[in-house]
Amino acid sequence: MKLKDKVAIITGGGSGIGKAIAISMAKEGADIVITDLVEERLTATERDIKAYGRDVLALKSDVSIIADIKNMVNKTMERFSKIDILVNNAGVYTPGLFLEKDEAAFDRVVAVNQKGVFFCTQLVAIEMVKRRYGKIIGICSSTARIGVPMYSDYVGTKGAMLAMTRAMAAELSPHGINVNAIACGLTPETSTFRLTNFPLEDINFMINITPMRRTGTVDDYTAIAILLASDEASFITGQTISVDGGVSMP
Ligand SMILES: NC(=O)c1ccc[n+]([C@@H]2O[C@H](COP(=O)([O-])OP(=O)(O)OC[C@H]3O[C@@H](n4cnc5c(N)ncnc54)[C@H](O)[C@@H]3O)[C@@H](O)[C@H]2O)c1
Repeated sequence: MKLKDKVAIITGGGSGIGKAIAISMAKEGADIVITDLVEERLTATERDIKAYGRDVLALKSDVSIIADIKNMVNKTMERFSKIDILVNNAGVYTPGLFLEKDEAAFDRVVAVNQKGVFFCTQLVAIEMVKRRYGKIIGICSSTARIGVPMYSDYVGTKGAMLAMTRAMAAELSPHGINVNAIACGLTPETSTFRLTNFPLEDINFMINITPMRRTGTVDDYTAIAILLASDEASFITGQTISVDGGVSMP
């Protein structure tokens, strides 16, 4: 087991990529904290994780609210006395033309995807610095590296994650904390995709420009997340690793 008795927080862990990573980390021996806005998703994921015999703390919590983040850290410390791994997975995205995006939608995307990552990392890192140990993993997107239509607000926040990953690594690595990210490819099986009726022509567009000629599945990202969370990757920091079928290769 690569993560035996580690404690991992996965934000937005009730669904999609976060849920798959939470379950895979439990299989590797970690105790898990999942946060999400949607209670039913937390309950279902909690049940799946318990099946692997690990302890789970499920918190209804919004990453864009500082009081919620503080509560997440405090509850995790009360229950497990440490935080080894943080996966900044919670994210929102809604397709829409750049010329038609409105301020409220823009503010929400920035609040969740950028402010949320910034302060979840800061408040968790304060605990990690005390133990001189931590693994922070951002769930980024290959759309931060290539020009795709319909997600101009979202790609800005993922570009910010890419840059913050380097800046945070520069400050946190001397404290024994690795900061990395995974740039995921288009993964249409997730809840947001199902609920927003993502246009089929956009999926086909992405498949056609992807060298592997397919979209991603949530299971495509679990092995790299476990590697980055493990001590095998202790000399990797500040990197955003693309797992996207080659769509963003240089
Ligand atoms: N699906 C894709 O094609 C794709 C591609 C690249 C990157 N990503 C990234 O993967 C991450 C996970 O998304 P997903 O595709 O698995 O979607 P998803 O909708 O299945 O999962 C996201 C989860 O985050 C939760 N969430 C949303 N806002 C939150 C908040 N403010 N606080 C706490 N939880 C919140 C949602 O309720 C949901 O359960 C996101 O950061 C997304 O940007 C997704």
